[in-house]
Amino acid sequence: MLRQLPRSLRMTSRLRTQVNYATNSPTGQSQIPVTRALEIGRWAEKLKAAGIEDTEFNLKCIVSHVLKQKFNSVPDSFAQLKFNPGQLADFERFLEARCARMPLQHIVGEWDFMDITLKTSPSVFIPRPETEEFMRLVIEDHKNAKSVDLLEVGCGSGAMSLSMLHSLPQVEATAIERSKAATVLAAENAKMLGLLDRFRVHNHTMEEDKYLPEELKDQKYDLIISNPPYVKTEEFQFLHPEVVVYENLNALDGGSDGLRVARLVFDLACRHLRPGGKLWLELGNDHPPLVKTIMNLKYEGRLKFVASYSDQYKRERFVQIEKV
Ligand SMILES: C[S@@+](CC[C@H](N)C(=O)[O-])C[C@H]1O[C@@H](n2cnc3c(N)ncnc32)[C@H](O)[C@@H]1O
Repeated sequence: MLRQLPRSLRMTSRLRTQVNYATNSPTGQSQIPVTRALEIGRWAEKLKAAGIEDTEFNLKCIVSHVLKQKFNSVPDSFAQLKFNPGQLADFERFLEARCARMPLQHIVGEWDFMDITLKTSPSVFIPRPETEEFMRLVIEDHKNAKSVDLLEVGCGSGAMSLSMLHSLPQVEATAIERSKAATVLAAENAKMLGLLDRFRVHNHTMEEDKYLPEELKDQKYDLIISNPPYVKTEEFQFLHPEVVVYENLNALDGGSDGLRVARLVFDLACRHLRPGGKLWLELGNDHPPLVKTIMNLKYEGRLKFVASYSDQYKRERFVQIEKV
């Protein structure tokens, strides 16, 4: 069952592994049979009417979150489950939020990314499954390096840097992030994962001629990674409500051609990558040919386009560049 679900909707390992509290009522409150009290069918219809496709998965995920019960141990038929009045109120509140298209990741409050679980926060970008594919390529490319000084531009929750640190002990990571909330969340996630000794995050907005914070202005790196905002302004009309309403637009808006922030990253890479160092970028699906042209025309002798790679949907999205 689980393997057939979209990867973007995978539940956290906490949900997978948590002990079963369902039949105990910690407050001693009376319990209400789920089937009678919650009218599950009614909620499934409401979710469908709100445009949510995988209603069964959404319901089960929210039930497991409310009951603090392993996702896999929630039965497909909810007939034997019981909620106390507090849990019932939570369940209805979370489903109302989901009907308003609040992402499941924000309702649950944490989500898996590769082998790590990250806390989420309403104003911080939710890491995407395609970014896991991107990070697998980057990790594969650096697994045999003796040591790697990594810089990430726009770390959000910390997903990319922290998964790299978790996989490769020879990596030291520095990240910059314009959002204060994301900076705090990334540090919290690093602490929660025991990776704070190899991860530093700075609340800094990369701008022309102020690419890095003052204390890093002379630093050089072996590797720069970024999943910058790359949505073209004209494409905003096609985004899902989960994205438009609940994501921070500063995390998405890449300007008229989607490369406004990526172009700053190119200039930053010229200044802060060591010769032979790599720049890896996750971008939109029509960006790689454009990036290749930009490298040839504007950065010849400084940056070299190495290759592009496709995501699981066969969209060419990931770009590898080398410092000459
Ligand atoms: C698409 S999100 C990616 C977040 C994270 N790397 C991930 O993959 O989940 C882009 C991030 O870049 C940050 N950002 C945007 N412009 C920035 C800038 N000029 N300097 C630093 N961070 C920036 C945003 O706040 C956001 O957290």
